[in-house]
Amino acid sequence: MEGFAGKVCVVTGAGSGIGQALAIELGRSGAKLAISDVDIEGLAKTEAELKAIGAPVKADRLDVTEREAFLLYADEVKAHYGKVNQIYNNAGIAFTGDVEVCDFKDIERIMDVDFWGVVNGTKAFLPHLIESGDGHVVNVSSLFGIFSVPGQSAYNAAKFAVRGFTEALRQEMITKKRPVQVTAVHPGGIKTAIARNATAAEGLDPKELAQEFDRKLARTTPERAATIILEAVHKKKARVLVGADAKILDVIVRITGSGYQRLFSKVLSKAAPNVH
Ligand SMILES: NC(=O)c1ccc[n+]([C@@H]2O[C@H](COP(=O)([O-])OP(=O)(O)OC[C@H]3O[C@@H](n4cnc5c(N)ncnc54)[C@H](O)[C@@H]3O)[C@@H](O)[C@H]2O)c1
Repeated sequence: MEGFAGKVCVVTGAGSGIGQALAIELGRSGAKLAISDVDIEGLAKTEAELKAIGAPVKADRLDVTEREAFLLYADEVKAHYGKVNQIYNNAGIAFTGDVEVCDFKDIERIMDVDFWGVVNGTKAFLPHLIESGDGHVVNVSSLFGIFSVPGQSAYNAAKFAVRGFTEALRQEMITKKRPVQVTAVHPGGIKTAIARNATAAEGLDPKELAQEFDRKLARTTPERAATIILEAVHKKKARVLVGADAKILDVIVRITGSGYQRLFSKVLSKAAPNVH
């Protein structure tokens, strides 16, 4: 892919799925990588693939919820490569459970990883991205940052928050004339481990939910998702919808306004009664 040669790119959650595919495609495109994850085995696989390609890689265990560690990590990456151009705030987790039955801690955990992880990464790296003179913040939200569904209130909240945060940041960079592009990513169902790694409220079977996701909802490969995301980054797009499902549902939300809620609660309660 064009436009990434020599760029220093940071990818969180790079041990699996979209993050792994992004790191490898960036490596193939001539970028220098700083990859991290809490899953050190997955991370080691990504690191080995990048080394096989011949891409420079710095791999570290990093929990995106640990703010102090993230701030130190940003300085380490800058010291290691001398500059930082792009951060892909990609690490994320999922949880299913209705508001009535889930615990506060379930919602807090999703917000910690999926929202605060993005905030920590953005704030830790922003000074370095500005200093590079050619920076880019890429924040992974979701189709569920555009469209809410029953059983996903915590994930919806985190992903809508990422979208709001990212869209405000983009405008700040424009008005302050900072040399930093900002892109919000909204994937539809991608064939990754997300559902298999997910947790659920008591009474729901996470395995069954994961099988349902893998069978019915995961449509796009992570490699295809990475290509779509990187094309959008190269074109400095504000927003990228990944997959036909994301594009279609985005249009439905625009057309129906809040009307989609009535429509989909009926459809979903028939299609996936166990997510309620
Ligand atoms: N797969 C989908 O259908 C889909 C759809 C929309 C959005 N997304 C988003 O895409 C991003 C990537 O997810 P994926 O589908 O590749 O899932 P995945 O489970 O395959 O990969 C996510 C990676 O994030 C890591 N991670 C989890 N918690 C972390 C933490 N606290 N600190 C650091 N790393 C952590 C995991 O170990 C894993 O390697 C997530 O933000 C997810 O919400 C995925």
